[in-house]
Amino acid sequence: MRLSRYFLPVLKENPSEAQVASHRLMLRAGMIKQQAAGIYSWLPLGWRVLRNVERIVHEEQQRAGHLPVLMPTIQPGELWQESGRDNSYGPEMLRITDRQGRKMLYGPTNEEMITDIFRAHASSYKELPLTLYHIQWKFRDEIRPRFGVMRGREFLMKDGYTFDLTREDAMIAYDRHMVAYLRTYERMGLTAIPMRADSGPIGGDDTHEFLVLAETGESEVMYDSAVTDLRLGDRRVDYDDAAQLRAICEEWTRPYARTDETHDVATFERQVPEARRRLSRGIEVGQIFYFGTKYSEPMGATVQGPDGKPVPVHMGSHGIGVSRLVGAIIEASHDDKGIVWPEGVTPFHCGIVNLRAGDGACDAAAAALEEGLAALGLEALHDDRDERAGTKFATMDLIGLPWRITVGPRGIKGGVVELTSRRTGESEELPPAEALAKVAAAYGVRAVVEG
Ligand SMILES: Nc1ncnc2c1ncn2[C@@H]1O[C@H](COP(=O)(O)OP(=O)(O)OP(=O)(O)O)[C@@H](O)[C@H]1O
Ligand SMILES: [Mg+2]
Repeated sequence: MRLSRYFLPVLKENPSEAQVASHRLMLRAGMIKQQAAGIYSWLPLGWRVLRNVERIVHEEQQRAGHLPVLMPTIQPGELWQESGRDNSYGPEMLRITDRQGRKMLYGPTNEEMITDIFRAHASSYKELPLTLYHIQWKFRDEIRPRFGVMRGREFLMKDGYTFDLTREDAMIAYDRHMVAYLRTYERMGLTAIPMRADSGPIGGDDTHEFLVLAETGESEVMYDSAVTDLRLGDRRVDYDDAAQLRAICEEWTRPYARTDETHDVATFERQVPEARRRLSRGIEVGQIFYFGTKYSEPMGATVQGPDGKPVPVHMGSHGIGVSRLVGAIIEASHDDKGIVWPEGVTPFHCGIVNLRAGDGACDAAAAALEEGLAALGLEALHDDRDERAGTKFATMDLIGLPWRITVGPRGIKGGVVELTSRRTGESEELPPAEALAKVAAAYGVRAVVEG
């Protein structure tokens, strides 16, 4: 992509409405535009990151055997009367009346609708276990939308729903979700800690929230520092192996980690040696929840059990804040110059800065690098504008691509370009083919170095 043909409306000044780094940087890097309180348009650069986050969520869900569907944003009110939540869900729900006077709503979540789908089509225990999920926009009329996309009113969420015959089976689905989530966040370059959560008014007794540590997080968190050393890495996970899933969940939930809602000082002090006790703040990027027959009973979502008798299914719902994650990743990975994207979600794999746009040799070298990266399946953002070097570097630092290749007349004469890591700031001069190979290696792509 040539920057001269791109739409990257960067801001020079810090926007005054932004209180946290991620919001400020998303506005400055031209990723989003606010359209109303807590409602945003995603501009080209932001859209790319959002799409990458979404893709990782899809891949890890499907790896775990979960089936993607797509439910509408607008729901009929009757479903919520059936579950009883029409009354209990407060002013956060945006209620709409259509031209026929029917009560509709913009979905804040989809338990009722998925239960309706299930009861319409599933009839036997033989169809279980089943997990259906979607990634869809939600609306919650938050009293205090803030921090940009992190607490929006309209936001993108992955919500998955599990259907099982028994509580035991439902807990296997719960474990499967916990492991899939750990892998999802790890691929985004995040450490997200599962913390015992409060089931709140919804009820139910098994729930964990996943929190990314950040000073600007809305939740207070207390944890054993041992938990932040855990990594799945390239461990092979067999999602059909309930014992393996349980062992992984135990590994992550054994160290103490709770939010202020469930924190217990005595347990904390008993279980965690003083040197490992941490008090911090965190951003909730997901939650898993077993709630049993809360919806299946009132809504009549039953299956015929092995003995031929109808039984209400045991359900769980499992959410990931897809749009919030874009902000959370920036909170966890930025410096005073701008964003530092983890390789897994970066909007472009590599930046190319042409220091002398218009110079035949530089133009040709920069274009060849862009093509070379494309041949490896890597996307570059190529700054071919007629701007000062300082402006070009500042833009690249702000938008945070992990790798930058700089092409200048002096280097080209000597057969080299400069490769710079955004994370470390370190640069080295290399022949173009070697620079390509290094970038490729950072993304796990094999490149053949010619000549
Ligand atoms: N207003 C919002 N803006 C952006 N993302 C959100 C918002 N509300 C919830 N999410 C994301 O969706 C995920 C699943 O939704 P869930 O119903 O668990 O949210 P929640 O517990 O009500 O969130 P919170 O406590 O932050 O209000 C959350 O873990 C969070 O990452
Ligand atoms: Mg939650």
